[in-house]
Amino acid sequence: MRVAVIGTGHVGLVTAACFAHVGHDVVGMDDDAQKIAKLNRGEMPIYERALGAIVESTRAAGRLTFTTDVCAAVRDQEMAFICVSTPPLPHGGADLSFVENATRRIAGAAPKDLLVVEKSTVPANTGAWIERTLAIYAGPGPGGGVEVASNPEFLREGSAVYDTLHPDRVVVGVKSPRAAARLRELYGPIFEGRFDCPIHKPCPPNGEVPFVVTSIQSAELIKHASNAFLAAKISFINAVADLCERVGADVAQVAEGMGLDPRIGHAFLRAGLGFGGACFPKDIRALLRLAEEMGLDFGLLREVDRINRHRIDVAVEKLRKALWILRGKRVGLLGLAFKPHTDDVRQAPALALAARLMEEGAEVVGCDPQARETAREAMPSLAITDDPYEMADGAEVLVLVTEWPEFLGLDWARVKRAMRRPIILDGRNALDQEKIRAEGFEYLGMGR
Ligand code: UDX
Repeated sequence: MRVAVIGTGHVGLVTAACFAHVGHDVVGMDDDAQKIAKLNRGEMPIYERALGAIVESTRAAGRLTFTTDVCAAVRDQEMAFICVSTPPLPHGGADLSFVENATRRIAGAAPKDLLVVEKSTVPANTGAWIERTLAIYAGPGPGGGVEVASNPEFLREGSAVYDTLHPDRVVVGVKSPRAAARLRELYGPIFEGRFDCPIHKPCPPNGEVPFVVTSIQSAELIKHASNAFLAAKISFINAVADLCERVGADVAQVAEGMGLDPRIGHAFLRAGLGFGGACFPKDIRALLRLAEEMGLDFGLLREVDRINRHRIDVAVEKLRKALWILRGKRVGLLGLAFKPHTDDVRQAPALALAARLMEEGAEVVGCDPQARETAREAMPSLAITDDPYEMADGAEVLVLVTEWPEFLGLDWARVKRAMRRPIILDGRNALDQEKIRAEGFEYLGMGR
């Protein structure tokens, strides 16, 4: 099928590359001329596993091209996916101006019969606005017959290519059976496993992937509610973690025991420094705001957010208890990205923790296998090194903030020799505490 993807950020670029990888003809469009030039030179603007390889192979096969011209991107296409960002406004609601702008420009260039699909995470009823906007701004050309659908993404950064090619469900919000059928056809190669998995060889076959057809409003809400629910699970277990410390329990054991109930499940029950990233923090606030606009108080989400922010206070208190005075003490942060396998530092707990410790006068040094440049840009005042052993040199405490495999397998004897005082705060409860203690460290966990 012929597909345009408007917006080549994380979601847009992965979507474009994966659709091309499974055999469709895709044009990626972005206003950022520098980014498009980079993509046209074969350079990746973000770090995402296997993305570079499939962009390269699909470009070479002529199935993936990039442009800054929305008319050229949309002309002759069967579908146009809106994948632009929906950043938070000061009141927490989503800024939909990029969506509106993309819609207006698509309207002017849309061929007859184009299916405009919103993939960006948007509050319910955005689809209706897109539909109205398309009608108002349709150009003098064929224009008519343009339809709107919603097809939310459920990609995790770091495994976004894998998640796209191996979805656990595909949700489509539509107004007509024909739109559902066209989207079903688009996902056909993925449902039938007709592609070469760039990550796992041999690749586990996709089982029966549920194709969930709903109204547009329901699809929009499925996305927001899913993210809010996952965030709530994390905050729930983090609140339990604090209680564990008070009563002498271990949250890892509690989560293990809880997760065995299939109604609860193990996923997203890892206590620690809380969630970050471009989605969860923004999405819970946007959903809270949407509810407010509808005259409802979804106070649970406020609490989810509050518990999450409080994780940084909990960590600072632990460090204060261990070190007494923070001023002048060297603190090393193992990990700056908001989670492993990404270079993304948006809303990263590491940066929030670094800012707090620096305010207290601590000498903070960070280290990350992928996020050095992004962290440097986001927080120029933070000292960053490439080498965890150098970071440990003279440090009084190391905090494991991001559970990169590289950090879990450090030579702890060497780390200990370098440190001034051997204290580890395991902010993700990811280290083997017995082993760390056996190496002679004082081990501090989160809720253990
Ligand atoms: C999330 C959703 O998972 C994805 O479906 C959606 O499309 C986009 O938002 P992402 O932000 O990439 O994906 O990261 P995710 O893997 O969900 O982790 C989010 C944050 O939660 C990370 O900071 C992670 O460290 C934290 N987390 C996750 C926990 O603290 N505990 C857990 O048990 C799981």
